[in-house]
Amino acid sequence: MTDRARRRLVGGALAATLGAPAFLRHARAADVPRFALGVASGQPQAAGMVLWTRLTGADLPERVEVRWELAHDEAFTKIAASGSETAEAAWAHSVHAEPAGLEPARWYWYRFSALGQRSDAGRTRTAPAPGQPATLEFAIASCQRWDVGHYAAWRHAAAENLDLVMFLGDYIYETPSAPGALRPHAGPRPKTLDEFRACYAQYKGDPALQAAHRACPWLLVWDDHEVGNDYANLQGEYLEPDFPQIRAAAYRAYWEHMPFPKSSRPVGPDMRIFGRLDWGQLARIHLIDDRQYRDVQVCPKPGRGGSNTVKLRDCPALLDPKRTLLGAEQEQWLAAGWDTRRPWNLLAQQTLMARFSWQDPADGGGMYWTDGWDGYAPARNRLLGTVAERKVPGVVVLGGDVHSHYVADLKPDYDDPGSPVVASEFCGTSITSLSLPQDRIDAARRFNPHIHYARADQRGYMRFSLDAKLLQAHLRVVDDARDPESGIRTAARFTVEAGRPGAQVG
Ligand SMILES: [Fe+2]
Repeated sequence: MTDRARRRLVGGALAATLGAPAFLRHARAADVPRFALGVASGQPQAAGMVLWTRLTGADLPERVEVRWELAHDEAFTKIAASGSETAEAAWAHSVHAEPAGLEPARWYWYRFSALGQRSDAGRTRTAPAPGQPATLEFAIASCQRWDVGHYAAWRHAAAENLDLVMFLGDYIYETPSAPGALRPHAGPRPKTLDEFRACYAQYKGDPALQAAHRACPWLLVWDDHEVGNDYANLQGEYLEPDFPQIRAAAYRAYWEHMPFPKSSRPVGPDMRIFGRLDWGQLARIHLIDDRQYRDVQVCPKPGRGGSNTVKLRDCPALLDPKRTLLGAEQEQWLAAGWDTRRPWNLLAQQTLMARFSWQDPADGGGMYWTDGWDGYAPARNRLLGTVAERKVPGVVVLGGDVHSHYVADLKPDYDDPGSPVVASEFCGTSITSLSLPQDRIDAARRFNPHIHYARADQRGYMRFSLDAKLLQAHLRVVDDARDPESGIRTAARFTVEAGRPGAQVG
């Protein structure tokens, strides 16, 4: 079946599932697709991973037994593990199965069955054992706003033979669609659990996104749009008094739709997503959360929360050392967990870490966007200062959020011309979401000489090959994100050598 035909079928089936009158739903229950949102896997460990699906259909019983199988082969002739989980209405009939006792560094196939139907099969793998030599093929991606583009980038990513996808935030957008949007969001701004669930169901109906989930395990962190634009901790952009309830609904729906373990299930408005994963002898991957615990942005627009772009001379609070982007506990957790034995430390996080000043910093200290790391510069300097002090090897910061491809050198103090390069940064562009005009970025480049590459006019993802000696980065760019059949190309290549922080062209 072509992608286009499949899209039509899935779209039609979903409409039938979510919108049909009750008598029709019951009359044709056997025909209602139960796995219309696909399957996914995530959090690969040396001995297991999380397998995810969510049953669909308005006629589902309160509790449904869902069987899962994990096999060594695509034909499922050699079963490695199997079991069953109860999908409950209270958790949107989501399934989070956690096979254990598997072999390290192996590929597996998995599938689910329930109510007489069987899901598509997905491919997943375990991580190498901690002492095992390893390589890693991975991609970073972020910001897949539904109503401004199609997911051709995901179709290509699914074919890249990756070990891992790291999704760095903005899986859904809460923003209502403007009239004439390419493919409109189905509802208004989600605030309730049912509205967030419906939003995930719309996004997860996309066949290219489903293919990318089937191709390999994902590691995920969220950014702001999974809850609300530019939120900070328990404060929304519009200072909504009910923001804690919105966050609780959003986090719950996020867990219901993502391959996180049961131990991550949110409690009220809290869900821990930060954590670590060791990839054999090669790398330690740190996943951090810059939304849930941060101090609120300083110098907002009058009567608002959220971000602003301000001159440092008008906003000295930007230099308050007491403010954190990660919260004190997570900041200490990160500082204590850098790996000094493996050649690489990959830091998967949300946004651009390198300083980006919109004006000459020599003129009053520069001008900054307050929502990113520039809004928390002392916290950035602490993080990179620790990397310098402890000589942490191979720190590569991976990010998203700003809908642009950036490659940068990271320094503990951008105001000190003698400050060394201690880490490398690759901040990947959006799958679809739109960015600023390129000429605005170009005009500010000369104030930011540590930035090697900055393109706001490209949509896609970054693909990496990592071994003990070298990181190779390919900046992948679709021809037209509005075209579901778009081609893709590599717009630029960079490398980082182990033991030599900083990106080089090549
Ligand atoms: Fe975004």
